[in-house]
Amino acid sequence: MTRGRFITFEGGEGAGKSTQVGRLMARLAPVLAGRGQGVIRTREPGGSRGAEIIRNLVVASDAENWSPVTETLLMYASRSDHLENTIRPALAAGDWVVCDRFADSSRAYQGAGGGVAPDFIEQMDRGVVGDDQPDLTLVFDLPVDVGLERAFGRGLFETRFESKGVEFHQRLREGFLRICEAHPQRCVRIDAAGTLEEVEARVWAAVEGRLL
Ligand code: TMP
Repeated sequence: MTRGRFITFEGGEGAGKSTQVGRLMARLAPVLAGRGQGVIRTREPGGSRGAEIIRNLVVASDAENWSPVTETLLMYASRSDHLENTIRPALAAGDWVVCDRFADSSRAYQGAGGGVAPDFIEQMDRGVVGDDQPDLTLVFDLPVDVGLERAFGRGLFETRFESKGVEFHQRLREGFLRICEAHPQRCVRIDAAGTLEEVEARVWAAVEGRLL
């Protein structure tokens, strides 16, 4: 059985990731079906029963409940459950996995944004994710003011992370861009400005060029 491929979508708020995950699924599913493979859509935090319980604790809660280190531990607890119960079984069955956010969100939000030491995050990553790193990561990039305006416009500002200040979001963007530069084999920066069709074409070009 050929192992499936693992694709992650990353980026700041309001970049349109979730819409584009849906569009990629619609294009990928028939191509993979022709090869006898499936594709599942999942997300973080969440994506398995236990991880969704942790998501409800973290995403919907008050911004001041936990320190960035504690948030990191909660994110990796959720990731561990998600890998065990959703991601690894799918990849082992030969299916592809498309995940809306993964470990780079911890590096960017808790690390670059929250000031958690990179060594701490990488140590946890080795223990929890290990060799199951994404095959391809699409990093959606937008100027901070554009992203926040889009997120506000969608009425999505109820969550703790979206309500942090503009400086936090600037550190976040820089963090994601640094990850891209540091891992060119795995990461592709996607310019998230433009129409849905334009962004969809950029995503498809990256997936087709790297994995198909
Ligand atoms: P979303 O589902 O709207 O993307 O919301 C999830 C929020 O959780 C988002 O603001 C980013 C944040 N997050 C982290 O801070 N660290 C992580 O590791 C992950 C996966 C998400």
